[in-house]
Amino acid sequence: MQKIGRNDPCWCGSGKKYKKCHCDFDEIIREHSLLGEIVPDRKLIKNNEQIEKIRESGKINTAVLDYVSAHIKEGVTTEDIDRWVYEQTTAMGAVPAPLNYEGFPKSVCTSVNDQVCHGIPSKNVVLKDGDIINVDVSTIYNGYFSDASRMFCIGNVSDENRRLVEVTKECVQLGLEQVKPWGHLGDIGQVINDNAKKNGYSVVREIGGHGVGLEFHEDPWVSYVTTKGTDMLLAPGFMFTIEPMINMGTHRIFVDEKDDWTVYTADGKPSAQWEIQVLVTETGYEVISH
Ligand code: MF3
Ligand code: CO
Repeated sequence: MQKIGRNDPCWCGSGKKYKKCHCDFDEIIREHSLLGEIVPDRKLIKNNEQIEKIRESGKINTAVLDYVSAHIKEGVTTEDIDRWVYEQTTAMGAVPAPLNYEGFPKSVCTSVNDQVCHGIPSKNVVLKDGDIINVDVSTIYNGYFSDASRMFCIGNVSDENRRLVEVTKECVQLGLEQVKPWGHLGDIGQVINDNAKKNGYSVVREIGGHGVGLEFHEDPWVSYVTTKGTDMLLAPGFMFTIEPMINMGTHRIFVDEKDDWTVYTADGKPSAQWEIQVLVTETGYEVISH
């Protein structure tokens, strides 16, 4: 790490003197690093200016999800949802992040019942009574990224499936309550996995969360089957998603060979996912999009 003078400008780009900005921060990082812990790289630490820009993106992302919440119902196709997301996002001067992302053909991911994630909207998928669906919305605004998803219960959903949706939401909330400066990503994975198992469910292993903000998917990759006190140190200014996929049956999954995107449960049982975007602050956390 390069040596910065106490009166030099801070590496975070705030314009403040190092001694008034990330000097103490670096000392704490150094201590944890010497203990062999995984610490976030400087490029993962957002300054206040960047945070404000990402907040604006997050507000649009949340507003798009609110629009979906207000309009989703039986008889709607997932292509209708895709159109709403495209129209609402662009009307607010933003761009849907999934569109053309690594070849993804639509503006939003819509994953129904045994679809775990990355479902592609289609005019052939008509929402019917009893379905559960994840709508995953991601936004680029002035070059800054936001990402969140919600579950929706269509009409009369079975108690069994409704409980999966609710327990998954509870998993995210429990994970969020673990977010504090100098905690660890593993604290989040531990409570999520514990709560899923306690309810007889399993957590998807191969797909997880990610850093976010300056890019759609930043380091690190975030697992939700981790152990308390392990994995990356949570430092103020670090931003990531909490987005566990919880399966009613086996944790095993497969990717649809026909479209190379849609992920399904191996046993055909339902899966649920909620996603929030979280910033680690000096005192705890801030939800950037939900
Ligand atoms: N929104 C997803 C996530 O939470 C990523 C989807 S990539 C896409 O990370 F291309 F499928 F949109
Ligand atoms: Co995400």
